[in-house]
Amino acid sequence: MKIAAFKIEEWMNRYCPRAEYDLTTTCIAPLSINELPYSKEIFNVKLGYGDIEGSLRLKTAIKSLYENQETENITVTHGAIGANQLVFLSLLEKGDEVVSIVPAYQQHYSIPESLGCRVKLYFLKEENKWLPDLEELDRVITSKTKLLCLNNPNNPTGSVMPDWMLEEIVKIAHKKNVWILSDEVYRGLNLIGKPYSKSIADLYERGISVGSMSKTYSLPGLRVGWIVGREDLIKEINHQRQYNTISVSILDDYFAASALENKDFISQRNFQIMHNGINILKQWLKNNLEFSCIIPAGGTTAFLKYNFDISSVEFCKKIQYLSGVALLPGETMEKDGYVRLGFCAENLQPALKQISTCLLSLR
Ligand SMILES: Cc1ncc(COP(=O)(O)O)c(C=O)c1O
Repeated sequence: MKIAAFKIEEWMNRYCPRAEYDLTTTCIAPLSINELPYSKEIFNVKLGYGDIEGSLRLKTAIKSLYENQETENITVTHGAIGANQLVFLSLLEKGDEVVSIVPAYQQHYSIPESLGCRVKLYFLKEENKWLPDLEELDRVITSKTKLLCLNNPNNPTGSVMPDWMLEEIVKIAHKKNVWILSDEVYRGLNLIGKPYSKSIADLYERGISVGSMSKTYSLPGLRVGWIVGREDLIKEINHQRQYNTISVSILDDYFAASALENKDFISQRNFQIMHNGINILKQWLKNNLEFSCIIPAGGTTAFLKYNFDISSVEFCKKIQYLSGVALLPGETMEKDGYVRLGFCAENLQPALKQISTCLLSLR
């Protein structure tokens, strides 16, 4: 199966290791094992495959994040990246029509394209605060569409679809018999209102929610994600899953369950980091008028428009060369003229200061 290059991953692999400061990150200060509650018994656990589809303890902890799901509606995967891929492999066939809301994670359109699907990109617009225009979306989704992909809260823009909007999107999808894959890896990180938006799996019988330990729970190194959806779909996904997962590591399963059972302390710590990051960013934007952005309502990234007549790829290369700070070009997310900045990054303040200094030579 031929597939397009994954542009953000290629960029990050190439530029981040050489950066003095890395602002491409989407994570919030990953936790160590020592910061998680665990019992010493874990050191005696035999490192077999463990529970193939995820332990009951882990699935029960995942279930608690949703309003009306059962453990049978959940399967555990290798991160959200494994979850998204399994959904596409299970649901799609050559010729199917897929609508993907972008900018978003490239998996959402490049995997369907590689499977021979007809993919339509629906671009969010800054003038709409990076939220979909429902009338437009209703026109883009047709009775031929099989799957709508969205990412809420959104990476890179930090926009959060309000619950009423999700309900309206469900109505559109229901009318046309369309599945919705909602990549919810940043769910639980809303900066305004309740931290958790509604989950698509709780709103819609054809809603498929993907979550993971990587962002909201600061444990990307565990490589644990999950899919929540209708039981018959989860069965279908598990059938595919046997070919590429077997199980997640028994250690990852254990620590993921422990973290979710104690998620309040992770959440408190992460909100402090997020608010601090947003305040630093707001202050910096006031003093650096070459940049502007819609202040994120959630998630961990902001999408900054820059006022220089240069492509985002060239701009990021220049910034990194002159300041040592790695940023992600919007072009890698199909939106040139912008850069993505992880506002929860370590050393955000000194990194932004370095960017300000180097702007003098770009002006
Ligand atoms: C929207 C989105 N989905 C999925 C992933 C992959 O997450 P995971 O580390 O859980 O595989 C990312 C990682 O950046 C992401 O931003």
